[in-house]
Amino acid sequence: MICQPVKTWHLGDQHQSLVLASFDNRLPEAVYWGPALPTGESHKTLSAASLMDVTGGMVDKNAAISLCPEASQTFPGQTGLTVRSRDGNPLAPAFRYESEAASEHGLSLVFADKALDLTLVLDLTLTPETSLLKLQTRLESADIVQVDWLAAPVLPVPAHTGEMIEFSGRWCAEFLTRRLPFAPGARLRDNRSGRTDHAHFPGLIVCTPGTSNTQGEALAFHYGWSGGHRMVAEELADGRRQVQFGHAGGSQAAGRHFVTAPLYATYSAGGFNGAAIRFQRHVRDAVVKDMRTPRPVHYNCWEAVYFDHKLDELKAIATHAAGLGAERFVLDDGWFGLRDDDTSSLGDWVIDGRKYPDGLTPLIDHVKALGLEFGLWFEPEMINEDSDLYRAHPDWVLGPSDQTRGRQQLVLDMAREDVRTHLYGQIATILRDNDIGYIKWDHNRVLPLVDAAQTEGVYQLIDRLRANFPQVEIESCASGGGRIDFGILERTQRVWLSDSNDALERQRIQHDAALYLPAAVTGSHVGPRRCHTSGRTLDIRIRAWTAAQRHMGFEMDPRELTEDETDVLREVTSWWKANRDWMMRADILRLDSSDPAVIAEQQLAENGDRFAVFAAQIRASDQILPHPVRLTGLDPASLYRISLANRDQAPQLSRGSPFLKTEDLEVSGQYLMSHGLTLPWRFPETIWVLEGQRL
Ligand code: DGJ
Repeated sequence: MICQPVKTWHLGDQHQSLVLASFDNRLPEAVYWGPALPTGESHKTLSAASLMDVTGGMVDKNAAISLCPEASQTFPGQTGLTVRSRDGNPLAPAFRYESEAASEHGLSLVFADKALDLTLVLDLTLTPETSLLKLQTRLESADIVQVDWLAAPVLPVPAHTGEMIEFSGRWCAEFLTRRLPFAPGARLRDNRSGRTDHAHFPGLIVCTPGTSNTQGEALAFHYGWSGGHRMVAEELADGRRQVQFGHAGGSQAAGRHFVTAPLYATYSAGGFNGAAIRFQRHVRDAVVKDMRTPRPVHYNCWEAVYFDHKLDELKAIATHAAGLGAERFVLDDGWFGLRDDDTSSLGDWVIDGRKYPDGLTPLIDHVKALGLEFGLWFEPEMINEDSDLYRAHPDWVLGPSDQTRGRQQLVLDMAREDVRTHLYGQIATILRDNDIGYIKWDHNRVLPLVDAAQTEGVYQLIDRLRANFPQVEIESCASGGGRIDFGILERTQRVWLSDSNDALERQRIQHDAALYLPAAVTGSHVGPRRCHTSGRTLDIRIRAWTAAQRHMGFEMDPRELTEDETDVLREVTSWWKANRDWMMRADILRLDSSDPAVIAEQQLAENGDRFAVFAAQIRASDQILPHPVRLTGLDPASLYRISLANRDQAPQLSRGSPFLKTEDLEVSGQYLMSHGLTLPWRFPETIWVLEGQRL
């Protein structure tokens, strides 16, 4: 018998169901989140069925893991809201149902604590095309309050999913994954860097011990915010588990209105790939706006010239890059102020007359005459003490004057309107006076303090530029992948995934980033022969094919390429151009490689009719025979023709006759997914590229 008054809501599609219940008008809790429930299921019955028992040593009623667990309900873990009154006293609101409204693909639920004059609004949607939940919490207060912690809607994760994958990393090693078991207590990540940061991608995947890329259950989360996040993955003493995401602790000033960034979440029964493709598609089709297609092949001059800009050399480089197939030329750091190294001029966004006596026009005209678009580097949020801007406005700096510098630079206080207006004016002048289609927007240091207003200020500046220069695409870079999240991707079209152009490192970074990022936004460049950040020398083939797995570009001095390197790069680039229309809309499916020395992925076209497989031999395998590479996501009953796109690269030491070495193979999807492809033996630091077509 259902004795408590209960209100229920359901967000669902063919992949998942989220059932929320509010008992006695209290905050709703997720009483079910998992595979889609059959139509006709009574959500009221299901809510009643979810009530758990009480025994000795407990309070008389289990406090709910509601969408905002409340201290006032004797919640035994981390609460979803920590708020203090204007004079610093802790408040313990008890919210009650007020109203609700339907929104596009979802609902808005309003709860209030009348005594404290606080209102909590829960905005919940499920995007039907991508099956991604988007969850946001707002807090409104009549009086000024201090919010120390506000979680986006909190979800419980089930007891049988006992593991989590979280993200760490460093410069040149973004998106490092770590799989760890839940244990009693809270796993807390509080990113104090003030930016998304290399070490703190705001994601979490909860899974069962058996979940792999291709099978098993996964509950995946991403917090779409660029100012540093806080995550709590907690196993309560009673065994229940909850996941919370919000802004980094204490990053919001006292006020009356608070809002979290969107928390994106999804349940997948199809392994990590099931979740990954929803994030990839959602980023590409719902988060990123105005992405230009076809995606142009990049050339970026940073690792060719650094700060040493000479017009004639840059023209010659552009000519070579165009010959290789580049379609966009990006002039990196060093064109403004008196910037001969990284000690000066940030803040002075005025063309350096010593390097460019006639402005950028001669270079831009040259680049355009070659048929390339012109792009320009900025690092707007930063300032050097050796700059005209600092000399005029030392008070525009964020944080104390004795703070530790980062790359010799300080940060501008982006919460200030005068700072944003000044930056807008300088950048807009450059964009208005020059034919520029692209900005590489860099951010090369952590902030001296965590402040949500800084991130909001940056968003405002970018939004204003985007509104007035909609034809200009923006790339988000922060010493490589230090600012990659759906918040920045709402206003940019590409990310510079990493400063590591080392193809072996890139293989790993790209592979793990694909848990969230589609190829179309993920920049990947062919760097110099000897990688500048790892010192490793790699063959052009693996460098070129690795870049061809994402949004392709080059970043070396093309004048230094040998004839062989030039030929390979041209060939791979034209392969990429011939395939980009479908590949930039393909799902990146991470393959479960049984050989830990091999990183393999399959890019499957939207209609499932064709695919490409990239299997990189990162190091020598422990065993001598290559393990077959098992594919995924195919129709078991269909026949596919498979060809080895780079079969000419089999080394002489491959003495046998694996079929694919000489011929195309026609086999069923079932065979490809169950047995897998038998590939020729190859050297470490090489890659096989396969093309598949449904017959
Ligand atoms: C760091 C970026 O990641 C590099 O690609 C380059 O743009 C430098 N900054 C320029 O200072």
